[in-house]
Amino acid sequence: MKLFMDTANVSQVAEIAAWGVLDGVTTNPSLVAKEGKDFKETVLEMCAHVPSVSAQVTATDVEGMRKQGEEYAGWHEHVVVKVPMTTEGLKALHHFRSQGIRTNTTLVFSLNQAILAAKAGANIISPFIGRLDDIGEDGMGLIAEIMEAWSHYRFDTEVLVASIRHPRHVAQAARIGAHICTIPYDVFVKLPHHTLTDAGLKKFLSDWEKVKK
Ligand code: G3P
Repeated sequence: MKLFMDTANVSQVAEIAAWGVLDGVTTNPSLVAKEGKDFKETVLEMCAHVPSVSAQVTATDVEGMRKQGEEYAGWHEHVVVKVPMTTEGLKALHHFRSQGIRTNTTLVFSLNQAILAAKAGANIISPFIGRLDDIGEDGMGLIAEIMEAWSHYRFDTEVLVASIRHPRHVAQAARIGAHICTIPYDVFVKLPHHTLTDAGLKKFLSDWEKVKK
């Protein structure tokens, strides 16, 4: 299972990359706006840390998406062009696949959208589970549906669990067999911890102090 971070903050990427567990980064226009830094510079700095950095197009027509996506892909070989799940987006995915440009389809909320994006040529699809939970639907249930459908066919499209809200989401996604989780920084830093690990280490160290005396 690959672990990505959902962020546009380069220091956060550097911190978690140093753990040796980070396979990629996903950004989106909201995350980039929050940091207020130059987009291209941010993407390039992240590309130095991880082999997959999703950079989202903001055009809504296929021509604009093609132009932006080709520009982003030219910045660095680690760039993955993120395209919204629309009919124009499907045309853009098809084009990018023919050009050998890697893509990630964002804003996926149903199995049918997932199938269309995969057939159009997406390398990654991003179902947003937290936002489904927010409206009373079952986000992780959608991941289970997609993985079940994927088991019947030979799509080479990776399923990336996005809009993660807490550490249990990561464990649940792994049990279902999702290929990738993109995790916000505040959830990522919780993953290494367990109360019993902290208490156990404290006890080992205090016992060791007694031996030393
Ligand atoms: O980057 C896409 C997705 O992970 C957004 O998550 O928390 O804004 O629903 P969220």
